[in-house]
Amino acid sequence: METVVLDANIPGNIELCGEILRGGGVVAFPTETVYGLGANALSESSVAGIFSVKGRPADNPLIVHVASLDDAVPLVVSISDTFRLLADKFWPGPLTLIARKSGIVPDNVTAGLDTVAIRMPSHSAALALIRAFGGPVAAPSANPSGRPSPTKASHVFSDIGGKLPFILDGGDCTVGIESTVLDISGSAARILRPGCVTLDELRAVLGVVGTQGELGVENIVPSANSPCIPEYTPKSPGMKYRHYAPRAPLTAVIGSAEATADYIIERLRYGVEGACENIAALMFDDYALSHPNVVTFGNSGDYAAQASRLFDALRAVDAMGLSAIFVQAPPEDGMGLAVANRIKKAAGSNIVDLNESL
Ligand code: TXA
Ligand code: MG
Repeated sequence: METVVLDANIPGNIELCGEILRGGGVVAFPTETVYGLGANALSESSVAGIFSVKGRPADNPLIVHVASLDDAVPLVVSISDTFRLLADKFWPGPLTLIARKSGIVPDNVTAGLDTVAIRMPSHSAALALIRAFGGPVAAPSANPSGRPSPTKASHVFSDIGGKLPFILDGGDCTVGIESTVLDISGSAARILRPGCVTLDELRAVLGVVGTQGELGVENIVPSANSPCIPEYTPKSPGMKYRHYAPRAPLTAVIGSAEATADYIIERLRYGVEGACENIAALMFDDYALSHPNVVTFGNSGDYAAQASRLFDALRAVDAMGLSAIFVQAPPEDGMGLAVANRIKKAAGSNIVDLNESL
């Protein structure tokens, strides 16, 4: 199939993509976080198309995208006070809420779970597409399973071009990493995937409604040797799969920006077992060595910049085809938690924690 990239700003293109969704097809579209691969969320056969284009395991549920809080009402058993409060505060935006699902949501959307993940994106093209289609749009990130999430239309084209009719190009994604996934289906809210809406921001809002229990983070990282943890049943099935596995082994280096930079620069200069020309690194702009194998992804304290550049930078170092990749991971505070989470997921079990040797 020929895949055409359509400029979201040209009148008629969003409508064209809406027609594909109405006809049961899939299209890729921009959101503020990453590009999504969308289909009619209320049609089991349309949703099956997403799983086949993406090569996604059937036990990993999808997020349903809506254009208003009202659109979410029919998808859930009831909109709780907590749901309404969080949606009022963070929608449209990068917060996905998990609640008990209603009967109209097909089982393959939720991978058989009795809960559904819902979010209202803030990207104008995403909202316009949902409205042009006229219903909720199920969409995972538009990468094949195992690749970094796409933050540009060109990433989608190189990953899954030929497997779908249209990619709606709305420019580079500004947030750059996937939404915060928050489970509010039980008595205690729980972050299943950290993102740009942070633990502290959620705590500040949830404190108001007196949510019982501690707001925790399920921050499970599968290892390189075991890309999937079969015996582990996380609340968010996607967390048991290793993500973004680059071709070369990737090592996440944790510690202060100074210490992690020193560690990586030493390897770039002197190599690992003698071979330094085969080493690539992803470093903070303010600590980077000027070197052809180094890609930068934002200043050490600028987590928002790191998030928006991380996946493109990961693709760039991976494309160098070298034998080892080292990445500086930020401290796990604020949005740094989400950036470090994605880096650790790419690293699997290759984690060097320089704080431990202090
Ligand atoms: O920013 C985003 O969230 C992007 C854009 C396109 O909206 N979407 C995205 O989708 O990252 P995906 O499919 O790549 O990740 C969805 C995550 C997975 O980890 C999945 O397991 C989890 O959400 N999830 C979905 N439904 C769930 C449910 N009912 N219970 C627990 N986890 C769920
Ligand atoms: Mg994904």
